[in-house]
Amino acid sequence: MNNNEGKGELEAGKVDCNETLEIENIEVDLILEAIWRRFGYDFRNYSKNSLTRRLNTMIQDIDEKKLSGLIPKILYEKNFLPTILHHLTIQVSEMFRDPLFYKSLRENVIPILKTWPIIRIWCAGCATGEEAYSLAIVLQEEGVYQRCLIYATDVNEEGLRQAIEGIYPIKKMREYSENYHKSDGKGSLNDYFSANYGSAIMDQSLKKNIVFSTHNLVSDSVFTEASMIFCRNVMIYFNQKLKDSVMDTFAESLSAGGFLSLGSKENLIGCRAKERFSEFDPKNKIFRKKFGEVTNG
Ligand SMILES: C[S@@+](CC[C@H](N)C(=O)[O-])C[C@H]1O[C@@H](n2cnc3c(N)ncnc32)[C@H](O)[C@@H]1O
Repeated sequence: MNNNEGKGELEAGKVDCNETLEIENIEVDLILEAIWRRFGYDFRNYSKNSLTRRLNTMIQDIDEKKLSGLIPKILYEKNFLPTILHHLTIQVSEMFRDPLFYKSLRENVIPILKTWPIIRIWCAGCATGEEAYSLAIVLQEEGVYQRCLIYATDVNEEGLRQAIEGIYPIKKMREYSENYHKSDGKGSLNDYFSANYGSAIMDQSLKKNIVFSTHNLVSDSVFTEASMIFCRNVMIYFNQKLKDSVMDTFAESLSAGGFLSLGSKENLIGCRAKERFSEFDPKNKIFRKKFGEVTNG
């Protein structure tokens, strides 16, 4: 639209604020279409505002003047994909993030999971692995880790590589240690890593039952028959349509009575799958798949 009628004061040829936003919107749509068609990664149903912010940061980081300047790079530079994934998927994570959630996991969920013969936990969107290691520590302290398998997946291979290494800055461990104690940790977080020149190397024993693997929640299907799914602080970046489809995947993937854990700002409101879950500990965003449900598996 290039209609300046009714904008008397505007000089001819200059774009106003609304037009700038409209152009930005078109640029973002074209970028997402190009990423999808060129690399097969579909960000078209991620939340637009957050994507626009991240694309704007990306052009600053790579010294590009306009958003549309990204399009030739996407089309012609074969090695551009990691740069895109680096900027469009947020790799921020913490150990024992939301400690009261982990406390509830210990007190309310694990006693139920303990009665099951095999416990499979899918950590979807595990980023750099802090969540999977926190979970492994809790399961070990609750005496059930040897019967558990943790599938920790993410779309971002760069993050997964760090997750597999399990090496974190030691100064972060101090902050994580506080979280660990608030989560009712049974010992000291120091028991689970060795310190080496400013780095904390997670204990090998924690890795024993964790399988790290790539999985794209947008395009890949049900991952495993899970007793519990963690998908925390991931769907906050999705629009309602994508959230709906991912929640359907989770409902299919969970065993009857299985648990779903979401991030503190996430919920099932507005999702088709909402009726398939009951609220187990709504304060800590833990839901439970209703019994009487049939999985596809
Ligand atoms: C903010 S981090 C959350 C990490 C962790 N769950 C936590 O709460 O600390 C979001 C993660 O979701 C992942 N992610 C985004 N889109 C995804 C997709 N389509 N499939 C799988 N993971 C995705 C990102 O790569 C990132 O690692």
